[in-house]
Amino acid sequence: MIEFQDVHKYYGDYHALRGITATIRAGEFFSLLGPSGCGKTTLLRTIAGFEGISSGAVMIDGKHMAHVPANKRPTNMVFQSYAIFPHLSVAENVGFGLRRDPRSAAEKIRAVDEALEMVGLKGYGNRAAHALSGGQRQRVALARALILKPKVLLLDEPLSALDKKMREQMQVELIKLQRQVGITFVLVTHDQEEALVMSDRIAVMFEGEIAQLDDPETLYRRPNSRRVADFIGVMNFLPAKVTGESNGHISIEAGGLGQVDIEAAQAPGKISGGEAWVGFRPETLTILYEGQTAMDRETPGTVEEVVYYGDMTYYDVRLDGVDRPVRISMRNVFGRPVLDIGTRTRVAWSPGALVLFR
Ligand SMILES: Nc1ncnc2c1ncn2[C@@H]1O[C@H](COP(=O)(O)OP(=O)(O)O)[C@@H](O)[C@H]1O
Ligand SMILES: [Mg+2]
Repeated sequence: MIEFQDVHKYYGDYHALRGITATIRAGEFFSLLGPSGCGKTTLLRTIAGFEGISSGAVMIDGKHMAHVPANKRPTNMVFQSYAIFPHLSVAENVGFGLRRDPRSAAEKIRAVDEALEMVGLKGYGNRAAHALSGGQRQRVALARALILKPKVLLLDEPLSALDKKMREQMQVELIKLQRQVGITFVLVTHDQEEALVMSDRIAVMFEGEIAQLDDPETLYRRPNSRRVADFIGVMNFLPAKVTGESNGHISIEAGGLGQVDIEAAQAPGKISGGEAWVGFRPETLTILYEGQTAMDRETPGTVEEVVYYGDMTYYDVRLDGVDRPVRISMRNVFGRPVLDIGTRTRVAWSPGALVLFR
């Protein structure tokens, strides 16, 4: 649906987009994820046509967009600020884009009602827009964009102004809405959790470049660099040594945990011998309680820090032979005590959960 071909964008001397090449498929929920200032909004605006590009090409639905102005593109944008007109009613806001539409007044009313129902605001048409809550404003902004039946809906941090509960609720509703209308959604967010929850695929951006483009599970399980791994969730890193490579397998000395064999696919960033880093997620380590044994490897250690979250507890454990503590997350299953600092324990881990980085 959208194709970026080596897109560069300069603001004066500042190189904001540095060779973006990517394809966004029709009907997918696609996210641009990255820290503030990495170029997400700029890239989104090149789709909308609000921003020209310095070189390269943007194609939408097979057509070159170079000379297509924003109002002639099959896209619509929902802004971070919603840009709701406070002095208009909800229905007037939603119907705003139909001002010059040749349809009859009755047909327009029907379209507005339909759009309001889609976003869960049936019957709110006569309300004053300024009297709405944050979540309701967000819905109005969505309805206003959807009523124009774009091929692509562009969303720039649309949920960032909402509180945590509301944001999570809207995330679920947005996913449902996208499935229902079936159009391509491109979401900008700096919130990794939001991107993981909502997206079919995610492009992780740093400094004007796409560092990795994958589905959420691949991004989480097989990040191709320490930087991506660090940005998405929590990952433990230990210095490691590559001791051998043969037909699809890599032998490593895993950061004081001993010799292990891993599959080549566990080094998605491609490493080439010698010094490396081994990474593993906190939930791939398990503290063993009395009577439990490891399915795979087992290493003794000492609890150094305990952070209790109610449903989960995060432990920092110093494994014997490892020169720094590792973070372990444990679900607080009923009947299982939270361990104290200083407790000696045993930790189960699996070579299959390791990721190797340059
Ligand atoms: N109109 C502009 N003029 C000059 N610099 C800009 C302009 N818009 C954005 N930038 C710069 O380009 C970089 C990327 O901005 P932006 O795309 O808004 O990042 P993000 O949305 O990822 O936070 C930032 O360093 C920002 O300061
Ligand atoms: Mg932005």
